Amino acid sequence: MSTSSATAAEPIEVKRRDFLYIATGAVAAVGAAAAVWPLIDQMNPAADVLAAGGPLTVDLSSVAPGQQIVVMWRSKPIFVVHRTPENLTELKSPALLARLRDPNSDELQQPAYAKNWSRSLKPDYLVLVGICTHLGCIPGYEPKPGSISASWPGGYLCPCHGSKYDMAGRVYQNVPAPMNLPVPPYHFASATKLVVGENPPGETFTMSEVETM
Ligand code: FES
Repeated sequence: MSTSSATAAEPIEVKRRDFLYIATGAVAAVGAAAAVWPLIDQMNPAADVLAAGGPLTVDLSSVAPGQQIVVMWRSKPIFVVHRTPENLTELKSPALLARLRDPNSDELQQPAYAKNWSRSLKPDYLVLVGICTHLGCIPGYEPKPGSISASWPGGYLCPCHGSKYDMAGRVYQNVPAPMNLPVPPYHFASATKLVVGENPPGETFTMSEVETM
């Protein structure tokens, strides 16, 4: 699997390593990315856990604001972004909301606990299934404002047919992709320990409920 940016000015490089890799965006410092690698080594779950599609625990304590990491869960790339305060402010921008197809996440592309303005349990952390809802390509992380166009606030650009998503995985209007990127079941075992594939207590969401999976 590989991803690449559709813009020559802001190439996105993805380093793959077995079942888990990290993608750093334009705002992610090289030093920050390097610091995550020891963390990833400690996170590799047992092969039988992966095969069973069981929950995947990810330590986010070294993921810097603005940085994305990508983990594999049930053979799907899961995007995890430590969003910045600027990202969160932009998610509520009327100008942005007017450009989105489903700004209120009315379509069933996320658990009920992520049907909110940030599409997340914790606004600081975005968790998405990184598969374009058009034909299944892997969208590129393009967090830098202005990198795609003058009005680009940061988000995702699918390299296959140009679909765009914002920093909550909400799809833009007038692009091929019909729906927002799915949000998988997840919860936080602690402030920075993410568990992908397991709901918070009392919740029963499964990926079979998502419309595009
Ligand atoms: S697969 Fe993403 S735009 Fe077509």
